Amino acid sequence: MTRSAVNPPGQLLVIGGGYTGQRFAQAARARFGMPVLLTSRQAKAAPGRGQAGFHWLVFNPDSSADPSAAEPSPTGPSAADLAGTTHVLVALPPERSGRDPALEHLGPILHQLPLQWLGYLSTTGVYGDCGGAWVDETAPCLTTLGRSQARRTAEQGWQASGLPVQIFRLPAIYGPHRSPFKALGAGESRLIHKHGQVFSRVHVDDIVGALLHCLEQPADGRPAVVNVVDNCPCPSSETLGFAAHLLGCKLPPAERFEAIAESMSPMALSFWADNRRASNSLLCEGLRYQLRYPSYREGYRACLAEELAGAQSGESAGSLT
Ligand SMILES: NC(=O)c1ccc[n+]([C@@H]2O[C@H](COP(=O)([O-])OP(=O)(O)OC[C@H]3O[C@@H](n4cnc5c(N)ncnc54)[C@H](OP(=O)(O)O)[C@@H]3O)[C@@H](O)[C@H]2O)c1
Repeated sequence: MTRSAVNPPGQLLVIGGGYTGQRFAQAARARFGMPVLLTSRQAKAAPGRGQAGFHWLVFNPDSSADPSAAEPSPTGPSAADLAGTTHVLVALPPERSGRDPALEHLGPILHQLPLQWLGYLSTTGVYGDCGGAWVDETAPCLTTLGRSQARRTAEQGWQASGLPVQIFRLPAIYGPHRSPFKALGAGESRLIHKHGQVFSRVHVDDIVGALLHCLEQPADGRPAVVNVVDNCPCPSSETLGFAAHLLGCKLPPAERFEAIAESMSPMALSFWADNRRASNSLLCEGLRYQLRYPSYREGYRACLAEELAGAQSGESAGSLT
């Protein structure tokens, strides 16, 4: 079979320029040198004053968040603002209803663009509770949690859009400045243990690496859905223990989940409701992506090094604003 050629990106649009979106934007620009547009709900930098090659656009589907707006109405980029975009990363959560603000408000413009690839960041939460079993992309999405059902609806919306969509299902994201170290150092962590419970996770730079790896593949070689997770699902008490070891600080006292469940918020409880081991065999064996951080052990060491380096230079590492 002849594979379609892969053209280098002409322009990247990141809808939802948050933690992962910015990290991806920086890495993609470093690799391909193309201009990058990012969206945020608030104006971030006056045009031309952002970091060279990066341009912030306001995308706010509910402009009532903007106190200066007379009436709530969506604010977003025009077709002219997005002209020339070839690659898109969607990195924002859906509404509770499952409607995706980006698809709803920007979909008509996206359809006019010469798009080669649109990556959509989803979650492994769509699989639901698997009783701790391994789960890959062929598994049915049986979640009963409201927010994961909304996410599945959003995935389906993108899949039905006719755009060149590739879905990436993510577990808990960690990375520099999204690590356990600050809370541990401040004595704000909790060491909670629930028998048999594991969590999957991934370092943000492996999300970035996997996205770049996939967008560089010919369109006919890209799987529709890819889990991006590390090799090491494990209890949160194990990862917190390792983080405390790296910091050289004491762990908080262990608490049994059953003893404190009643006092937990519904949101906190929902994170403990699902138990699964998300598999990366499609990404790592099928697509031959090599993880930079196969487990939290390498990942946490790298986070701590980057956080300490940032503290010494007085900078928040990786921010484009
Ligand atoms: N964090 C995790 O552990 C995790 C796990 C699995 C999946 N995910 C998903 O992966 C994606 C990236 O996660 P992240 O942690 O990097 O995200 P993040 O840092 O929270 O950034 C989210 C971005 O989306 C924008 N945004 C949020 N709601 C919006 C709305 N209604 N309309 C327009 N823009 C909106 C935010 O705008 P502002 O800049 O104005 O705030 C921000 O730029 C998200 O879809 C997230 O749900 C996250």
